[in-house]
Amino acid sequence: MKSENIKQIHLAVFASGGGSNARVLTTFFENRANITVSLFLTNNPQSGVVTLGKEYNIPVRVLSGKTLEESSVIAPLLKEFCIDYLVLAGFLKKIPDHLIKTYPDKIFNIHPSLLPKYGGKGMYGHFVHEAVKNSGDDRSGCTVHLVNEEYDKGRILHQTEIPVTADMSAEDIATAVLKEEHLCFAPVIESYIRNREGL
Ligand code: GRF
Repeated sequence: MKSENIKQIHLAVFASGGGSNARVLTTFFENRANITVSLFLTNNPQSGVVTLGKEYNIPVRVLSGKTLEESSVIAPLLKEFCIDYLVLAGFLKKIPDHLIKTYPDKIFNIHPSLLPKYGGKGMYGHFVHEAVKNSGDDRSGCTVHLVNEEYDKGRILHQTEIPVTADMSAEDIATAVLKEEHLCFAPVIESYIRNREGL
């Protein structure tokens, strides 16, 4: 149970796919005094966050790409839920500039490679892991970074490396990287917010 007397920071989690990172964030912050996942946003009605929201009684809104672009729709929604920070957990749409201006240095993303390698437009999901496999690199990993106007170019907050061996398939690399994403994303967000907010 969260105390109402302690300042609360509200997170909106954006996801497009399975939502495993969103699930880890939800359970992690459920047990933290000051930080709460308060809203899920998705562009995909089949996303895992739709059932996750029901399970945890967290509101979910399905947005079309166009709705995301229109500040007159999304801004009041984020205000309604008192959202302080945005978290992109496998969200495949580009965040529009109006949101980046409203949330400067307050939007987190996780990317399944060691940025700046294998980042940018079109580099998501299996495309990233296949590119790593084809490159012959002996390591990959995940990157937690702040979001700015350019895809995957914001300030890097954290990277975890994994070894890549010749016998690993792109799927094996994806599995190993996702495991590390689940370990680092929430603690990195927590530590950034605590430092910034003096919590
Ligand atoms: C993760 O690998 C994330 O880095 C990438 O998309 C995947 C999402 O997985 N952006 P999930 O939806 O959190 O399970």
